[in-house]
Amino acid sequence: MTKRKILVTSALPYANGSIHLGHMVEHIQTDVWVRFQKLRGHECHYCCADDTHGTPVMLAAQKQGLAPEDMIARVREEHLADFTGFHIGYSNYYSTHSPENKAFSEKIYCALKANGKIESRVIEQLFDPEKEMFLPDRFVKGECPKCHAPDQYGDNCEVCGTTYAPTELIKPYSAVSGATPVLRESEHFFFKLGECADFLKAWTGGESKLSDGRIQPHLQPEALNKMKEWLGEGENALSDWDISRDAPYFGFEIPDAPGKYFYVWLDAPVGYMASFQNLCDRIGVDFNEFFQAGSETEMYHFIGKDILYFHALFWPAMLHFSGHRTPTGVFAHGFLTVDGQKMSKSRGTFITAKSYLEQKLNPEWMRYYIAAKLNSKVEDIDLNLNDFIARVNSDLVGKYVNIAARAAGFIAKRFEGRLKDVDNSALLAKLAAESERIAESYETREYARALRDIMALSDAVNEYVDANKPWELAKQEGQEARLHEVCSELINAFSMLTACLAPVLPQTAANAAQFLNIPAITWEHTRTTLGEHAINKYEHLMQRVEQKQVDDLIEANKQSIQTAAETAPAEEGKYAPVAEQASFDAFMKIDMRVAKVLNCEAVEGSTKLLKFDLDFGFEKRVIFSGIAASYPNPAELNGRMVIAVANFAPRKMAKFGVSEGMILSAATADGKLRLLDVHEGAQPGDKVG
Ligand code: MSP
Ligand code: ZN
Repeated sequence: MTKRKILVTSALPYANGSIHLGHMVEHIQTDVWVRFQKLRGHECHYCCADDTHGTPVMLAAQKQGLAPEDMIARVREEHLADFTGFHIGYSNYYSTHSPENKAFSEKIYCALKANGKIESRVIEQLFDPEKEMFLPDRFVKGECPKCHAPDQYGDNCEVCGTTYAPTELIKPYSAVSGATPVLRESEHFFFKLGECADFLKAWTGGESKLSDGRIQPHLQPEALNKMKEWLGEGENALSDWDISRDAPYFGFEIPDAPGKYFYVWLDAPVGYMASFQNLCDRIGVDFNEFFQAGSETEMYHFIGKDILYFHALFWPAMLHFSGHRTPTGVFAHGFLTVDGQKMSKSRGTFITAKSYLEQKLNPEWMRYYIAAKLNSKVEDIDLNLNDFIARVNSDLVGKYVNIAARAAGFIAKRFEGRLKDVDNSALLAKLAAESERIAESYETREYARALRDIMALSDAVNEYVDANKPWELAKQEGQEARLHEVCSELINAFSMLTACLAPVLPQTAANAAQFLNIPAITWEHTRTTLGEHAINKYEHLMQRVEQKQVDDLIEANKQSIQTAAETAPAEEGKYAPVAEQASFDAFMKIDMRVAKVLNCEAVEGSTKLLKFDLDFGFEKRVIFSGIAASYPNPAELNGRMVIAVANFAPRKMAKFGVSEGMILSAATADGKLRLLDVHEGAQPGDKVG
């Protein structure tokens, strides 16, 4: 076998937020792959880091009254503790705010510049005159130019989905200070990505030949299709990439450009290099062998689908035009939903890694469940909480661990803990025969298929137990040898299955190795028997998940946002500024009425809208309202009173129908919409004012 040299990364989490189960999907996916490669005997380095630069980090630190350096150091500790708690086994977890990263960012930038790929241009951008800083799009808010929903971000409207420039917002305000932003000119540096289009067209559609002869396409088919859209012609052609930001900014200052900083997305992927360099220095690996142009080593980036653009276009271009190797493969995964919906703080399904660990849920349950849902495609995956309980209990406890539990006692009590040589067992031959297929599934990131196959083998082993009934053999005279044989087969089967599951369940595999009395599990154990061998005492390897543990987890996540809301000091920019003065007459033109919800339901084909059938007293009307995200159970609104504007012109809602008015709601600081209440006694049709 050729020993492959592989460098693997997960995307670098931002240093201004907690690790949640969405991040965990990515790090579990990566970690399973890395552990598999190591079990196979390859040299595999797994590097990650915190992504520490940019405006959101700078402002988060200010809000907490901390220097950014102190905040990111603290957050890095927290992130690393969360990941370690889920048994993510990095070779190095570093920081983008490091000397290595500064040096590499400058080196790459200077090489691109020397290659004629950097250009300076004066651009106009919104500037906060109070805070004296340029505002990133997400820090400008205002009314949507299309649907007039208030308090929308500067890049797109969460109510109607339109994308626009922050300058198009109506009545824009700075989310930092509330001030009205002004347009201001500034010199920015651009990476001339447009000139890289030919290279990128070839690279995105290209592939690498691996040292073992296999062919690895650089991108997944779905990702390649997406890139083709972005690498189009004319209007869709690649535009140059703005890589500088003005002070105040938390990041690296650009060489020979005082007051100009590298945009966070420039130095973030360079953070992969920095983390690896830092590792190489520690363990004596040759960095250049991995990063020089034409390197024969392999490099893979595991990322979410939202950051494909950066990894499939910007990053390969940055590497190539600065004289480095490019990635062997970029592996994008979809997003995690919980019970079929986007993770939500108010529903408690925005589950932080920390809360999961604090509630004492076993991290390997989640590793198994997530892995059982993952494949090589860019598909969203759903964490269904009932299914989570059922699946873990049935597969891991009921099928896999049970095999050891059913045989260990007999081996200990009747055979002094000694296994018989069962190398000629047909059952074990069947398991060994599947080893390569399972390896192929892990290799190609078809974890769901690998685990399905492993569970099918576990079923076969359990059927063998039921057919041979060791508990009866134990009572029958003259069946001693047969009992020894069957139980030895079972322990060997358990050893093989453990090796198959080891990439997903590293802790259980380590505990099982202790029980099996072997120094460590390797992939060889998936297809070899233990021979005549003494094993250790069996200790129970895994508990069942209890419903209450999951309920408590959800409750803990609900409460944590409540306490955060109660104890947090009023955040800067939390309140929308008061609108400009309006006259009483103008107000009186709006005819608001009490209306009764006859029926409220989700709108097929829309994640945003709810359809309300309303009784206005004088007539019945239909209104579509963009509040679906805030009311996951529309039916619970049936029968309640709402306040609605009755004299807007009817509006056609894309393909869904006509909306005859607007229902009023309050926009909360965390982005929720809450319907207004009417005190008892008000009737449908009553005028509000
Ligand atoms: N800092 C950037 C990445 C820089 S890489 C050079 C970033 N950080 S992030 O914290 O927002 O996201 C980190 C990773 O987690 C991304 O790959 C992202 O796609 C992934 N996920 C964040 N939420 C997720 C889900 N709900 N589900 C699955 N993955 C998710 O982007
Ligand atoms: Zn809108």
